[in-house]
Amino acid sequence: MRCDRNITTNQRLSDKADLLYLLRDVDEVYRRSSAGGSKMIRSHQHQVRKRLSRVIEADEPLIDRTPEDKPVTIHLPRALEIGNRGPLTQIAQTIGRITSVLTWAYGYDKISSRLAKRYAFAEIAGPSGPVRAQTLIIGLVLFAPGTVYPQHAHQEIEESYISVAGAWSENDAAVYAPGSLILNRSGDQHRITVGDREPCLLVYAWLGEKERLLKPNMTFSRSFR
Ligand SMILES: [Fe+2]
Repeated sequence: MRCDRNITTNQRLSDKADLLYLLRDVDEVYRRSSAGGSKMIRSHQHQVRKRLSRVIEADEPLIDRTPEDKPVTIHLPRALEIGNRGPLTQIAQTIGRITSVLTWAYGYDKISSRLAKRYAFAEIAGPSGPVRAQTLIIGLVLFAPGTVYPQHAHQEIEESYISVAGAWSENDAAVYAPGSLILNRSGDQHRITVGDREPCLLVYAWLGEKERLLKPNMTFSRSFR
C-alpha cells in the first residue's frame, strides 16, 4: 500500500548521499540512453530529467517510509550481482547500498498469492516519498525468475522501464536486455514475462498528475487474472 501519512523527517535528500546519487544515476541513464530515433521516447526522457532535476534542486525534507521486504526480495542480491556485470553497473551498485531502507510494496488491492511471491516495487521518489516529488515517480520493480506479470494499463500515466538486470519481454514483442528502455504511454496494455533462470530488476519512471500518481487505480485485465 502507498503511504498516505506523509510524515516529514528532519532529513533532506542532501543528507542521504546514496539516495541522491541514485537519483543522479537515474538522471544519467535517461540522459545517455538512446531514444532510438523516437521523438516520443526522446520527449519522455526529457520530461523525466526535467522533473527529476527540479526534485533534486528542491532538496525538500524526506517523507518517512518504513523499510519493508516482500518475498521476492530474496532475489535482489542476485539481481544486483547480474546488474553489476551489465551496462548499468553504477546504478546497480548504488541500489546495493540502499537496500536496507527500501519499502517494497505490491500496489494492488488484490494480488494472487503466486504473484505476491514473485513481484514487488519500491518507490524512491514520488508523492509518497521517500524523496518528495509531485508529478514524477522513480522506483524499482523486481521480478522473480519465470514471472508473468499480468496485462494491465495505466490511465493518465506515462511509464518507462529501464532494465538493470535480467532478460524480459513485453507483450511477447521482443526480449529486452539490461540497458534497454521501453515506453508505455497512457492506456497502453502491457504484460511482462521474465526469463526462467534469473530475476529481473527494472528502474521505472511514471509521469502524471499528483492525484493520479497517488491513486493509479491499477487493475489487471480480466482475461489475464
Ligand atoms: Fe506497467
